[in-house]
Parts: sequence; C-alpha cells; structure tokens
Amino acid sequence: MSLGRQVAIFFIAIVLLATCAENSEARVTLENGIKSMVYLSPKITQHPGSVSNKFYYGIEFPKGHIAIKSFNAEVVDEAGNPVSLQEAYLHHWVAVRYYERIGVEDTKYHGNLGFHQSDFIIAGNSGVCNHGLTQFFGLGSETRKTSTRVPDPYGIEVGNPLEVPSGYEEKWLLNIHAIDTRGAVDAMGCTECRCNLYNVTHDEYGRPLDPDYVGGLNCCYDETQCKVKNGLESVERNLYLKYTVKWVDWSDSIVPVKIFIFDVTDTWQNTGIHDCLIEYNIEQSTTTNDYTSSKRSSVKFPIAGDVVYGITHQHSGGIGSALYSEDGQVICSSKPIYGKGNDVGDEAGYIVGMSTCYPKPGSVKISRDETLTLESNYSSEKSHTGVMGLFYILVVESSLEMNHPVQVHEGLEVPIFFWGVAVLGLAICAAVLVAYQRRKQNENGYQPIAT
Ligand SMILES: *[C@@H]1O[C@H](CO)[C@@H](O)[C@H](O)[C@H]1NC(C)=O
Ligand SMILES: *[C@@H]1O[C@H](CO)[C@@H](O)[C@H](O)[C@H]1NC(C)=O
Repeated sequence: MSLGRQVAIFFIAIVLLATCAENSEARVTLENGIKSMVYLSPKITQHPGSVSNKFYYGIEFPKGHIAIKSFNAEVVDEAGNPVSLQEAYLHHWVAVRYYERIGVEDTKYHGNLGFHQSDFIIAGNSGVCNHGLTQFFGLGSETRKTSTRVPDPYGIEVGNPLEVPSGYEEKWLLNIHAIDTRGAVDAMGCTECRCNLYNVTHDEYGRPLDPDYVGGLNCCYDETQCKVKNGLESVERNLYLKYTVKWVDWSDSIVPVKIFIFDVTDTWQNTGIHDCLIEYNIEQSTTTNDYTSSKRSSVKFPIAGDVVYGITHQHSGGIGSALYSEDGQVICSSKPIYGKGNDVGDEAGYIVGMSTCYPKPGSVKISRDETLTLESNYSSEKSHTGVMGLFYILVVESSLEMNHPVQVHEGLEVPIFFWGVAVLGLAICAAVLVAYQRRKQNENGYQPIAT
C-alpha cells in the first residue's frame, strides 16, 4: 500500500470514527486499565403486591476472553432512578453462565429451563451443591453496599474459547426475583414469602403444598400476589436490574480464581450428597435471654488453595456467618449491614450490604479434602421463613499460584501505528453500534411463550 493511500484511509477512518462517536453512546469506560460497562436487564413489570421471578436468557454481557473484576447491580425505574427496597424488594438476582448450541434461537421463555435440553449446557461455578446455586454472581437486597471486587492479580476467567464445547457458544442468564411491597398489609411478611399472605395452595409446578410449609419460594414464585391493603389503587410500573460489570482482557499475568458456594442447609454431613435446600426457617425463641439461632453444616473441600475473597448471603434477621477450617480457625466471617432510615440504600429493617473478606494473598489456605464448617446465625427474637445461609468464596488453586508471580495488572497496550488506531477504533465503533442495536431490539423482545 502506498503512503498516500494509507493517509487517505486514515482520514476516511477518522471521519467515520467521529461520526460513530456522535451517534452511539460511549458505553465501555476504561479506568486504570479496567473496562466497565453498565447494562439494563429486560423490563420487569410490577404492580402492588406482585412477584416477578423470571429467567432472562442471553442477557448482555462483555464479549471475549476476559477476567471479571466485579459485578454490581441495583434496581432502577424507567427514568433510571434507584428504587427503594421498601417498594421493590430484591429477593435475589443471579447471573449464570451457560453454553447454547449455535443456531438455536435465544429462548423467550422465562421459566427455569433446568437445562435438561441438549441445546443448553450449564457452565456453573466450582461447586459444591449438586443442584442449583450454579451462579457465578448473585446477591439480594444487600447488592448496593456490597463489594464484589476481585483483587489483583486475580480474576474470574470467562469467555475462554477453549472451554466452550464445539458447536456451542457461551451465554449468560439472569434470574431476578423481585417483590413489589407497595401497599402491602405486611411488607416484611411478603419479603419472607409467608404463605398466608400469598393465597396459594400449590407450588409453581402445581404440586399441593404441605400444610406445614409456612413460607419460602414455593409461596412467592413468579406471578404470585402478596396481600395488599383494601381499596389500594393498582399502579403498574416497569423496573430494571441495572448491572455493572468490570473486567480486563485475559492475559497471562492474571491468576484465575474458582468460585465456590456453600449452603448451610447442605445435607452432605448426614447423607454424603450435597443436597442444598437453599432455604430454611427460624423458629421464634422460647426463652428471653438468648435470641441467637445458630445453624451449622460441614463439607469437604475438593481442591487445595488460597482464599482471596469471601462473603455470606443472609436475609433479614441474619446476624452474621462464618466459614471455619477443620481446626476451627475462621477462614472468613461476614456480617449483614442493616439500613437505618428511608433513603434508597439505607432502608430500615432491610439488609443493605454485607461485609466481605479480602485475606492477605497466601495467608488463608485450605487443604484438599479439608472439612470446612459453615455457621449461619439469625436472631430468633421473631420467627423467620425462607431465610438463607450461603457463603461464597473465591479460591486460587495452589498449583497455579506457584506458576504465577504476583503482579498487578498493567494498562492495555495501545497499537502504535496510526492507521492501526483508526482501524481498531472502527472495529470498536461497529461493535458498539451492533451491541446498541441489539439492546434496542432486546428491550422489547422478551415475551412469554404463547401456547
Ligand atoms: C385466592 O385464590 C383463589 C383461587 O385459587 C381465588 O378464587 C381468590 O379470589 C383468591 N383470593 C384473593 C384474596 O386473592
Ligand atoms: C454464632 O452464634 C454462636 C452462639 O451464640 C457464637 O458462638 C458464634 O460466634 C456466632 N458466629 C458468628 C459468625 O457470629
């Protein structure tokens, strides 16, 4: 190519780039070498007392072979304003990775596929439950004030083309469970999925509920209705889960971490299988001098490694949780932060954040086959239904640690040839435009399957 022609291409590219910059939102931001993008989930339509617990398949997610550095979320309204937990209780959101057969249409179905179909393969975390809890990321009401940062030099590796089975592509789904408590007779009761407030006799699969079943997900599934005050005007509104993903492009300097989730209801100790029941209830204390209800469960840890992050997930009433090593040392303890007022992010009575652990690299080790014990404490001053005691940890496998000198991620390399810059810019421009168009289509594209 002659120099003259290169210069011409350069100028054409610059003009196109300028046009691109004007026409599309600059969505990916870059700070200290970390990329960041804010996305909106499909729209969640609610009215007072309504429950939405839908699965959104093929959600927007950063593309390519990358290392996730954080995943935060919050509920916003149509105008983008944060919505109070007092109005829209975020029971949970989870982001699950899966592989979808190439050529299969993104499903518009909102239920739990269960992934029995060969077109979908769940690509979950590293364990340890046999069913469910396969998510990479997920929190509940605490999402606004909880740190999800993965410290350097670690990262959660996703989008590695070598891990995707041939004929499939990597995708992500979001399951969002939100309960609209505007005008509720008993807002806290609605958030605890108390069956007497939901007028249901069968679970979402049509199986009759056991009369002893007083509360939990089987009473507050998608499209159920919690009791609201008589004569309340039903105001419908649309909400979104706004989620922010931060990542860096994959490189050899990043040390991959594995995600493990423990559940205090895991039956492994008694049955030898990891049957994770997810929810349990807290009975009201019969004495007045002790209001702590403590539940424990043990599991055997499958690898040897170092803990780099830890956090619990509890519901209102929770007073803290800890993961102990076989010799009884605390691996990580994590506590709920309760709101104190009426501001968004500080809602009284609700868990608005969780404390997290960031052990000094290499200081908290777990051996292969070590028995770990999870302890989840709740206040038993009142009874609670449908509570949870989960514990997430990020672990770097010991064998990997030795091969990777600890080094902080460096900034992105910038191509040096001027026309290289222009071509790269154009490619990004095209990608952003495509993503933007797709998002526009997606926004109205999710409809339940018509039968
Ligand atoms: C409760 O559900 C039944 C049907 O299962 C319905 O006929 C009744 O109107 C519902 N009651 C309320 C208060 O929503
Ligand atoms: C849980 O409660 C028990 C009993 O009161 C206490 O010994 C333990 O330290 C508590 N654990 C946490 C993590 O708060």
